[in-house]
Amino acid sequence: MKFQKQIFGFMDMLRFKELVPNRRKALASGTDTPLPKRYRVNELAKALHPGRMQVEVTALRPLTDGMTELTFRRTDADAFPFFRAGQYVSLQGTVADSVVSRPYSISSSPREALENKLTLGVENAGFFSGYLNREVKVGDRFLMTEPAGEFHYETLRDKPQIACIAGGSGITPFLSMAKSRKEGDESYEMILFYGARDEAHLAYKAELDALAAEGAIKVVYLLSDETREGYEHGFVTAALLSRYLSIPDVTFFLCGPAAMYEFVGKELEPFALPRKAVRRDAACCGNRAVENPRTFSLTVHIRDKVWNIPAREDETLLAAMERAGIPAPNKCRAGGCGYCHSQWLAGEYTVAEGRDGRRLADRKFGGIHPCVTYPQSDMEINVPPAE
Ligand code: FES
Repeated sequence: MKFQKQIFGFMDMLRFKELVPNRRKALASGTDTPLPKRYRVNELAKALHPGRMQVEVTALRPLTDGMTELTFRRTDADAFPFFRAGQYVSLQGTVADSVVSRPYSISSSPREALENKLTLGVENAGFFSGYLNREVKVGDRFLMTEPAGEFHYETLRDKPQIACIAGGSGITPFLSMAKSRKEGDESYEMILFYGARDEAHLAYKAELDALAAEGAIKVVYLLSDETREGYEHGFVTAALLSRYLSIPDVTFFLCGPAAMYEFVGKELEPFALPRKAVRRDAACCGNRAVENPRTFSLTVHIRDKVWNIPAREDETLLAAMERAGIPAPNKCRAGGCGYCHSQWLAGEYTVAEGRDGRRLADRKFGGIHPCVTYPQSDMEINVPPAE
């Protein structure tokens, strides 16, 4: 066999020979200053994603007779992370020996977060929200998750004009979106339809009127139980929407009670809009209606700790754990974020209708979301520790 000499192969050999001496030279000429312990990119990532934050209530303000605004500051840092207007945080506290948490949409703007201010508008309904309305005081401290959620504008997916439809306390994410639009962090054209029983139940009306007067948004108020000049009367029908916009040319954002989602969904049905054109903020998964609910035994493992607790078939596994004071991880409580993802070990269960956000592999290999799972027999689960 005959080998041909290749000039490039020869050059490679020479380079290889010089490799070690060249490296030695480079090392010798380098500085002996130790590598930095902190890098800017890591600092930024930590500022944007702090995980859980320690917060303190700095102000309380009644918004309506059934809704209170709570203002928070962080006590473990100088600022809240910047977020996308429309996102939520989960607030956690201990009430009557139960560890409870609930997600609340942020009503302040992302820029206010950088000034260490974050506000939540909380409706006086349910155990924890009722406590926040009636008993919380300035100076009380809580844990709060970093902002999260997909209920925000996305340039690539959404139309340049958005129609936001709010019912009752569902106004909070839209106030943040309107402020963010005014502050120049968002570029959409925003029209807000805000419905309530009567004028007295419209929260944040002064703020919304000021934003409308500055041209940041257009607001249409609707009252269902009252007729007033300057207000629409009734509910958000397709006919009403068509008077203000071209339905196929906008992206809808809905936040409010389930009945509102159903009503508006039916009104929009004839337009056959793509799914992405109608975005709904997910509500917490609460108790389900069961006549004479049975009580089962739930065995919970978190690392090397084991609890045996009662779990009713009409309440989620997460609610059962919280009632027993077990610090189970959660954020959205709606089956969407995956933060509570746990491992099923034994027992029968059912998942709330329309809330099963698990991947196929999770369903096959025993992944569950305790926030939307109801026991149907004694159960055993392995839960990750809350961080
Ligand atoms: S808390 Fe989000 S999926 Fe359970």
